[in-house]
Amino acid sequence: MAATARSLACVLLCALCMLGLSDGADLISGDTVLVYEWTFIDYDWPSDDARQLALDDGSFAPINNSINGIKTYGGVVYLTVPRWRAGVPATLTSVVMKGGRPVLRPFPSWEWQVVGNCSTIQYVQSMEIDRLGRMWIIDNGRLAVFDPNLPQVCAPKILVYDIKKAEMVRVHTFPNDVASNSTAFLNDIVIDASADDTDGWFAYISDSSRAGGIVVYDYKQDKSHRVTHPSMTAATDGRRMTINGRNYTFPPVPVNGVALSPIGKNMKLYYCALAGYNLYTLPTSLLKQPTVADVGTSVKELGRKASQSDGIAISNKGTLYYGALQLNAVYRWDTSSQDVSSSSPLLISDVRMQWPNAFAFDDEGYLWFVSNKLQQYLFNELNITGPESNFRVWKIYVGEKSYMYKGSGASGLRFGWGMLVAVVSVLYAIMSYI
Ligand SMILES: *[C@@H]1O[C@H](CO)[C@@H](O)[C@H](O)[C@H]1NC(C)=O
Ligand SMILES: *[C@@H]1O[C@H](CO)[C@@H](O)[C@H](O)[C@H]1NC(C)=O
Ligand SMILES: *[C@@H]1O[C@H](CO)[C@@H](O)[C@H](O)[C@H]1NC(C)=O
Ligand SMILES: *[C@@H]1O[C@H](CO)[C@@H](O)[C@H](O)[C@H]1NC(C)=O
Ligand SMILES: *[C@@H]1O[C@H](CO)[C@@H](O)[C@H](O)[C@H]1NC(C)=O
Repeated sequence: MAATARSLACVLLCALCMLGLSDGADLISGDTVLVYEWTFIDYDWPSDDARQLALDDGSFAPINNSINGIKTYGGVVYLTVPRWRAGVPATLTSVVMKGGRPVLRPFPSWEWQVVGNCSTIQYVQSMEIDRLGRMWIIDNGRLAVFDPNLPQVCAPKILVYDIKKAEMVRVHTFPNDVASNSTAFLNDIVIDASADDTDGWFAYISDSSRAGGIVVYDYKQDKSHRVTHPSMTAATDGRRMTINGRNYTFPPVPVNGVALSPIGKNMKLYYCALAGYNLYTLPTSLLKQPTVADVGTSVKELGRKASQSDGIAISNKGTLYYGALQLNAVYRWDTSSQDVSSSSPLLISDVRMQWPNAFAFDDEGYLWFVSNKLQQYLFNELNITGPESNFRVWKIYVGEKSYMYKGSGASGLRFGWGMLVAVVSVLYAIMSYI
């Protein structure tokens, strides 16, 4: 009898441990995975000859290629290669393994990225994939933001591509007063997937040109408008950064990172300038109105981040993540608290994480991000022949999903293997006691 009681106690203890483990929060620390890394970016060319031809005629200049936006869907990792400078053969890609190394395959195809053909994609900084598998792609229509000699060839637009149907389902060209066809810098995008009618979703896009602005796209009406406010401009103290002991003065880039609160009531858009420390928020109810009279009184300043940041992202549990650019680190902050100055490191300083650029969530609880040494790219310090990796794709377990995830995000317990083993153990314990 005593033995039975002991083994019962033991099995119950075991079961409780399993139950604890099944709550993913316990797995957070240390579980960082370096998924891909590159010294220089290369592509899935149709042939070696095609690659050599592109190198010869300058349509592929490896030194000018850098990864930026990241999203995952159905186990595939999608990356953007911004056309910041000349010689970027494809601007939207998926990662594939070829000859044992990761390369970028133009997505959806080479035919969709023909320079100068305005029916196709010209220059993508970021994209987002909604839970239906529709990729919302922002195209600047320009060939090189950082090269005044290269002209704007097409007007900026948003394209929506259905990954499952393998079909472009929407192309919307922005009017000039929403996103200028000579200066647009559509930088980052989030999808408001809160409406039950899946055609009633919105995109909020940062435009880092001029004084900055938020471009709103209404999918159902197929209409767009622009919202501006002084909080979207560059801050005077925001341009200087010290990264790895080097001082840099960046251009006065205005609003850049955007993030959306989880699906629910009183949703908010969070945004910040690249040249600035402060985080701001605006209610989406206001952004959705086709003509916004004055957002001024609704803008809230949420305090100062640990550093300037590029991309930002919020999970289904309301955790905001940002790359702390001066610290080679990733920070997190609970958006239900009042001031972003209370944010803390998710990942502490790691020299391999220079310029954590953009974030994504998968369905398994991982936060993905790109680090790309953008400061070195901008100031022509990048070495793509040395042994050092320059571009990396990371994932870290956080036990959370995308802000677009619809479901009880607040529930603490997850039904995984741990839970199953726990339930079986409890049943076994009860049965062996009887
Ligand atoms: C890289 O881009 C710059 C700016 O667009 C251009 O002047 C330069 O020729 C490009 N490099 C190569 C190797 O083509
Ligand atoms: C531009 O691209 C579209 C879509 O791929 C294609 O149908 C069209 O023929 C192309 N136009 C030119 C001039 O190549
Ligand atoms: C930009 O807009 C102006 C005015 O509507 C128009 O004349 C011009 O052709 C457009 N350029 C491009 C590249 O679409
Ligand atoms: C960087 O700037 C800081 C503040 O102005 C200065 O103290 C420091 O000496 C500079 N470092 C370098 C390497 O120039
Ligand atoms: C890049 O690194 C390699 C190896 O350290 C070095 O030989 C080369 O000179 C470097 N190139 C540049 C442009 O700094």
